[in-house]
This record gives sequence, C-alpha cells and structure tokens, in this order.
Amino acid sequence: MSVGSNSAASRDIAYHLHPYTNARKNEAEGSVIIDRGEGVYVIDNQGKRYLEAMAGLWCAGLGFSEERLVKAASDQLAKLPYYHSFAQKTASPAVDLAEKLVEMTPAQLTKVFFANSGSEANDTAVKVVWYYNNALGRPERKKVISRVKGYHGVTIAAASLTAMPYVQADFDLPIQNIIHTGAPHHYRFAKEGESEEAFTDRLAQELEDLILAEGPETVAAFIGEPLQGAGGVIVPPESYWPKIQAVLKEYDILLIADEVICGFGRTGRLFGSETFGLQPDMMTVAKQLSSAYVPISALLVSDPIYQAIADNSEKLGSFGHGYTYGAHPVSAAVALETLKIYEERNIVERVQALAPQLQQGLRRFQDSPIVGEVRGIGLIAAAELVADKAGKTPFEPVGKVGSYFTASAQAHGVIFRNLGDTIAVCPPMIITEAEIDILLEGFAAALAETEAWVAEQGLDAVA
Ligand SMILES: Cc1ncc(COP(=O)(O)O)c(C=O)c1O
Repeated sequence: MSVGSNSAASRDIAYHLHPYTNARKNEAEGSVIIDRGEGVYVIDNQGKRYLEAMAGLWCAGLGFSEERLVKAASDQLAKLPYYHSFAQKTASPAVDLAEKLVEMTPAQLTKVFFANSGSEANDTAVKVVWYYNNALGRPERKKVISRVKGYHGVTIAAASLTAMPYVQADFDLPIQNIIHTGAPHHYRFAKEGESEEAFTDRLAQELEDLILAEGPETVAAFIGEPLQGAGGVIVPPESYWPKIQAVLKEYDILLIADEVICGFGRTGRLFGSETFGLQPDMMTVAKQLSSAYVPISALLVSDPIYQAIADNSEKLGSFGHGYTYGAHPVSAAVALETLKIYEERNIVERVQALAPQLQQGLRRFQDSPIVGEVRGIGLIAAAELVADKAGKTPFEPVGKVGSYFTASAQAHGVIFRNLGDTIAVCPPMIITEAEIDILLEGFAAALAETEAWVAEQGLDAVA
C-alpha cells in the first residue's frame, strides 16, 4: 500500500476508526484499500488482485460483481428508494421477502421481523424472548444461555451472548441474564480418551446441571450457531444437537438458531439447522441473505411467540421495537434477487459438489508439523495451527502465528482470516474448481512460509 501524505491510506489513518483493528498498528502500517470486485476476487487501489477466500466476512455468497444484484438495487432505488414498516405501513419488496423466508425456513417459523445486521437481529431475539415471557406472565424467565466460542455480534445484548473475551473486555459486558455453557469442539475440549459420544453426553449433562443450578423457571432460551463460525469453525459431533435439544425440551427452553453464517447453503444444506438437525423456535439470518451487497437481517419466530407478541402489542398499544431501516425496500429487493439466484444456480447442490475438493484439499495439510486439526463442512473450513501437535499446545502469544500466515497468504494474493491461530476459509459460493485450486495453492505457500518462520523463531514446542 502507499502511505504518501495525501494518499487514500494516509487519509484513512487520519480520519477512520476501524472496527476490529489495533488502531496504533493501523496508524503505523495503514490498511489495504479495496477498490473493485470481480467474481471471487477483490482488487486494491494499487491494482493487486486477491482471491477473497473469506467472502469478505463470511458473507458475499455471490462474489463481488453480480450484475443482477446491482440492477435489483438500482431498479428499486428508482421506484421507491425508502419506506419503513412502522404503524401499519410497509413496502412491497418487504412483503415478498417475508413470504419467501417463511417458505424457505423450517415450517414452525411463521413470522419475520427485519433488521440491518446480525447483531441487531440477535439483540431483537433477546428482547423478543424477554417480551414474550412478560407477555405470558412469567417475568422470572429471562436468562439466555449462549456458548463458549459462540459469536453473535457486538451490540449490547449480542456482545453479551458472544463469549469471546475481546468483545466484552472494557465494554462493561456482559449484561445480566446471559450465561454460558461449553462448546462442542471435540479436538479442543474433549478429555483425554473421551469418545465423541461421551463428550456430547457430558456437554448435555453440563447444560442440564447449569439449568438446574440457575433454576429452570428462570431460563428462557438457548442460542447457538448450528456450526460455530468466528469461534473457529467448530463442526459439532453428529450427536450434539439432538442431545442438547432433548435437554431444552425437558425444561421448556426456546431454541434460537443463529444462522447468520450458516444460512443459505454454506454448510451444504439451505440452513445449518437442516445439516445438524435443529428445530428452532426462532432463527436469525443476515450476511448471505443479500450476499452482503446491502445490509439486511431478519429474525424469524414461531407462531406461539408471534401470538404472545401480538396480544401484548394490543395490550400496550404497540410492539415497541423497530429500526428506521428495517425492511428497507432496496435491501429487501436485493435479498429477493439473491435468493432467486441461489435457486436458479442450484447453489446448495453446487456447495455439495465443491465441498469435497475444498475439504479434502485442506486436509492434505493435516501432515504439516504446525497443523493440529483441519475441520469443516460444505464451503466453510478451518485449520488450527499449534506449537506441538501431540500435546495440541497452542502458540504463545495466541494470534502471532495466525497473523503471519494470513499476511503471507495475502502477499500470495489470497485473503484468509486468522481467528487467533485458526485459519478460516469461507469463499464465495460461486467459486469454481480452478479457483479452489488457486485458493489451496495460496494456502500451501503461506503454510510453507509459516512453518519456516516458526522454526526460525523457535516458536514450535518440538523444535
Ligand atoms: C453467527 C453470527 N451471528 C451474528 C453476527 C453479527 O453480525 P453483524 O456483524 O452483521 O452484526 C456474526 C458476524 O460475523 C456471526 O458470525
């Protein structure tokens, strides 16, 4: 990048506070400034091309240059650029999209509330859980259980659900009524010699113990990503969700599926809930809903929840929740076109067809001395880098090796994301076989350089 005095990079440093960025490091080094998109590639303002192996932030399912989405947005802008859904009004695309989402999602979900981001959808889910229980006359039922390694966003309730310490530190979070239970990551959290079956039995037991310790009458809901994304692409053992849901059922606790990453084909089924057998009472969606071309998210709820909200809104005079840009006609029009394209191009089947090439291709790196585990399903995967394979010992400090890897891959023209020392892979779902090969070559080059650097630095425990 160029950090000349009036360059875009230096003006960025001067004026822009970046999310999820070390601000001092950014002042010293500047940011890559992306100018254009072409299929699965993005091009920076120096003309360098990168294969975007993370679809941005797990979101640009159709890549970065889908003309039909541009047209859907501009047609809608020309026709009706804005309207809201407050006070018995709405715009036509919002109606069509709500109907479409109810058709696509599990049958028990019957109503859609629109928001603008995954965080807002999850904050709305928490507020709805509280509102629902107040409406039913059980104000003591307010606690929401989330999981270690869960990521649900950064607004106040969502950041409280998110278990990563970096999301809560010095923000005076979490808020009350949010509690956490274990993550279904066998590689990291199973006891020595514990089978997957015994591991999931233990997680279900831990959940039940937590509910009993808190008082079942105080626990309202459980939120989970079908597959945990930002926590490290954690694919749960097959027996995990059935056992967790049996516990939730026993204590009449609502299940909220956060499909913000998993939704719309990513795991090889339309929703992660199908892949892993969840029967949620509520579901949040965002990201690939519009291929991220415009901000839009949604919360879907079951009929009993809707009925309680409806009664209470009548009692109070209104459901006192809503966003100026919720159900935005331009966002809804782009989302509708996105869903149409997913169907026309059989995107779910496409993900299934491409998954073996990506998953097996990455598993080849399992032999590296610094790769502890390669995991994933569909077109989402990760490789966890470790200092010592036998002991599964993480590198110290966490993230240094992962950052080296992603910087190296970036120099080779492939953008991955390191979650600590776990390298995440989540390319646009339109990626081709040839482009997956390029992605894997970039991974191989970065891994070779990282192995050499780790040995040189003496960071590996076995060196
Ligand atoms: C599973 C999940 N839920 C919620 C969010 C938050 O979404 P947003 O960044 O749009 O607020 C994310 C973001 O990565 C996510 O991965």
